[in-house]
Amino acid sequence: DTPYLVDRFGRVAQDLRVSLIDKCNLRCTYCMPAEGLPWLKRSEMLDTDEMNRLIRIAVEELGVTTVRFTGGEPLLRKDLVDIIGATSALQGNPKTSLTTNGINLGDFAEPLVRAGLNRVNVSLDSLDREVFKELTRRDRLDDVLDGLAAAKSMKLEPVKVNAVLMRGINDHEAPELLRYCIERGYQLRFIEQMPLDAQHEWDRDAMITADEILELLGREFSLTPDTAERGSAPAERWLVDGGPATVGVIGSVTRPFCSACDRTRLTADGQLRSCLFSTTETDLRAPMRDGASDEELARLWRGEMWAKAAGHGMDSGEFAQPDRPMSAIGG
Ligand code: GTP
Ligand code: 5AD
Ligand code: SF4
Repeated sequence: DTPYLVDRFGRVAQDLRVSLIDKCNLRCTYCMPAEGLPWLKRSEMLDTDEMNRLIRIAVEELGVTTVRFTGGEPLLRKDLVDIIGATSALQGNPKTSLTTNGINLGDFAEPLVRAGLNRVNVSLDSLDREVFKELTRRDRLDDVLDGLAAAKSMKLEPVKVNAVLMRGINDHEAPELLRYCIERGYQLRFIEQMPLDAQHEWDRDAMITADEILELLGREFSLTPDTAERGSAPAERWLVDGGPATVGVIGSVTRPFCSACDRTRLTADGQLRSCLFSTTETDLRAPMRDGASDEELARLWRGEMWAKAAGHGMDSGEFAQPDRPMSAIGG
């Protein structure tokens, strides 16, 4: 047994993504329906101690060096500050980050930083109050912008912004979003929409591709490839008007980066996934509640990762969207 999470293709997973809660206070149309989803019951979710134990095993026994907390919306989890504090205190000083919609970040940025949080990524798809409301089905644009500003003032740098473009809805805002982020020192990345929506309405032909995003931005900015080492980052980066400002494009569908993937995932109900697009999971909750040792749980974790597929296989013809939507897997 190696102390690392390796797969058959030689990849090593050192980046753990934890979905802390499947609930959200927005209802982005590309993610979930207006009425929400059948949320996990409290008894199905890992409690604080269970969560902290599995994160400790990943960091102290399995070589994980960075832990990203996602959701749903992770700020809705009451014990978030405690979990970040416990993670930051682990042996090896793992880096911690949060992917959030930004609502309430204004209140939480300071306690999170005090607990040891290193980084934050905030989703922002529109700067137009009406468009934001249509896309997220909630009138919360100002809360998100306040959250972003709070992150910046707490030096959670680099503050990254994620934007998904939807044809005919917010695609006209791409240059404006970039200008807004550059002016405030946020690193913007545009994301290709993936087939992970709860409604299973994703349509490849309707998706705004990485090529299109670059074309849209190219009309107003000059983009040149950023030669900085990309590593396992999902975003390809371009210097904007010669730099130093950059813009990223996450082309999961048309420019997959699976061969460099260093991720392993844990869901709020204690299931391990080797990939966003896995159609199988390894349950850690039942064995843990039945008294499994740390070594047994670590062995299950290595097994899940060893079975990781080479890639999402979206172009293989055999691709099937996972049953679990992105809001329950974590971004
Ligand atoms: P940093 O750049 O290190 O901050 O992290 P990140 O870009 O991985 O984090 P974030 O949670 O903000 O994810 C942004 C987007 O990257 C997600 O919305 C996904 O579209 C994409 N993404 C993240 N992880 C994966 C993955 O494992 N596979 C694929 N295909 N896309 C991913
Ligand atoms: N495709 C691409 N990105 C998505 N996100 C949510 N659902 C999807 C999807 N189907 C984005 C959110 C957030 C990030 C974690 O993932 O907007 O920025
Ligand atoms: Fe919530 Fe994120 Fe889904 Fe939007 S994309 S509804 S912010 S989980």
